[in-house]
Parts: sequence; structure tokens; C-alpha cells
Amino acid sequence: MGWSIEGRRVIVTGGNAGIGRAAAEALSNAGALVTIAARNRAKAGMAADAIESSSGVPVDTLEVDLADLASVRAAADTFLATHDDAAVLINNAGGMFGRRGSTVDGHERTIATNYLGPFLLTQLLIDRLRACSPSRIINVASSGHGYAKEGIRFGDFEWTDRYRMMEVYGHSKLANILHARELERRYGPDGVHAYAMHPGLVRTSIGRGGDSLRISLAVRFAGPRMRSPEEGADTAVWLATEDPLPEPCGGYFEDRTEARSSRHARDDEMARRLWDETEALVMTRTDESGTAS
Ligand SMILES: NC(=O)c1ccc[n+]([C@@H]2O[C@H](COP(=O)([O-])OP(=O)(O)OC[C@H]3O[C@@H](n4cnc5c(N)ncnc54)[C@H](OP(=O)(O)O)[C@@H]3O)[C@@H](O)[C@H]2O)c1
Repeated sequence: MGWSIEGRRVIVTGGNAGIGRAAAEALSNAGALVTIAARNRAKAGMAADAIESSSGVPVDTLEVDLADLASVRAAADTFLATHDDAAVLINNAGGMFGRRGSTVDGHERTIATNYLGPFLLTQLLIDRLRACSPSRIINVASSGHGYAKEGIRFGDFEWTDRYRMMEVYGHSKLANILHARELERRYGPDGVHAYAMHPGLVRTSIGRGGDSLRISLAVRFAGPRMRSPEEGADTAVWLATEDPLPEPCGGYFEDRTEARSSRHARDDEMARRLWDETEALVMTRTDESGTAS
């Protein structure tokens, strides 16, 4: 049977703004039942209402702060209790920060928002994605993964030493690509296929939180050459909807084709080690009595 997104459930993190919103809109127009997962309930509701009124297809919202692991767990519990289907998960939400910051869990905020939160969300939804297979997971990564010149820094994964915005961002985006690769190795045989993609240089709010002059200047000079959010979302939407399944599964795409990635992004051993170390970081929850589960 062919793949169709019509009437199937698609979760888009950060679906309230930028590339995620454009993807949510395109998928809703294609007949998907979109869940906008976002940290700001009001912004998510406004986006959902606007998309729903133009597509005529119901859009709902899910509150999640990806930089807060308890919030990710609560969001996954809510989603699983309120929805049966899960056809596509688009891990799109992300950020870039000029200065080092820590999350409520004590993690570095770029790595937490862009990688640890999405990793945990994906793992908490994986059994549902498997039960609903064929299904797909799409990680919005970036060509900026090339800034991670040393690959994954297992010795200082959260950049306690020498924080540099583009390197930390690139590191988190390399993790997104390796995550997709390892997801495919583990769950591809169950019919859950994973991809990473680069949206191009897109005119959005990323990094405009006010703490990086460098981003503001880059946007000012690159502005006219930047893509619209709709253009930036195109490959993610294509990966979510294309039939037959885009190949290679587990690959890294740009402009609807497999793209060149760094040698680290193709390192299966690094992907496996990253998975194991991430699991140890985020999957263990300790209850009040100190028992891990
Ligand atoms: N723009 C580019 O040129 C470009 C290039 C390569 C890759 N990317 C990637 O594209 C993805 C989308 O970025 P964008 O350019 O569309 O930026 P954007 O307009 O700033 O959108 C980012 C989205 O992520 C959400 N988000 C940020 N932190 C979050 C958190 N802790 N919990 C939940 N949601 C959170 C934002 O929510 P709020 O509205 O609440 O802030 C927003 O919905 C990112 O993964 C980024 O790395 C972008």
C-alpha cells in the first residue's frame, strides 16, 4: 500500500514559527492532522487557528519546553494519552545562543534544546511510531554541523570549556544528523524511517534573542539572499510526504536530494556512542525515593 499523509498525525516541534510553522501549514494543506508542539501555548494556539482556518483540517497543540526534560516527559504522556496515531515526528525546534546558558536540568541550553530534548521526545514516542509504522522521523539539522570540526566532544559534551556559539550550535546539529542515522539503524527494520535535513539559510527568528550581535549582522547582510520559511520547509515536507520512501533512509538531505555532510556525520561508531551516552544522560528518571527508572 502506498504512503499518504492525508488523515495521518504529524507532530511538528516549533510549529508555531519559522520553518516549523511553514512545514505545519504545508502538511495541513496536504490533509495531515498536525500537532504543533511548542513551548508557548498562546503562540501555538494562534498558529494552529490560522493554519486550520486556511486548510480546513483540524490542527491541535501540545505544550512542550524542549529545554526542560520534565516538560518533555509531560508532553509525551499527554500526547500518548490523547492521540492514537503517530505517522511523522518532525524535530524542528531549535535555537542558537550567543552566550552559554544552563537549563533547569543543568544542561547547556543549545545542546539541551536542539538535541537532548528532541532525543528524549523521540524515545518516548518511539513505541507509538513503531506501532503506527510505516512512520517517519525528520530531524531539522543544518550545514552548520560542519563547525563541529572535532566531531562529538565526548570529553566535554556540554561545552563547559571555551563556549563558542557556532561550534556549539554545529555540535548540536551534528548530533541531530547522527541521531537520525542511528534511529534508522535501530528502527528502520520496524518501518520507522529517519532522516536529517538542511533547510538552507532561511529568514526566521533564529538567534535573534538579542544575545548575539554576530547573528544580527549576518542576517542584515545575508537578508536578501535568504530563503522564505516555506522554501526552507520544503525538503522536510517532501521527506514527510514523498512516496516511495526517499533513499537513503537515515541520510542527510538538502533540496530534496542527499547532501554532502562532514565525515563525522557519516561516522556510525560515533552515532552509536552518542546514542549510548545520550541515553544515559536523559533516559534515567529518578523518583523522590532516589529510584531510577
Ligand atoms: N533559519 C535558518 O537559516 C536555519 C538554517 C539551518 C537550520 N535551521 C534549523 O531550523 C530549525 C527551525 O529554526 P527556524 O530558523 O525556523 O527558527 P525560529 O523561527 O526561531 O523557530 C524556532 C522554533 O523553535 C522553537 N523553540 C525554541 N526553543 C524551544 C524550546 N526550548 N522548546 C520548544 N520550542 C522551542 C521556537 O519557539 P518560540 O517561538 O517559543 O521561540 C520556534 O517555534 C532549527 O532547528 C534550526 O537549527 C535553521
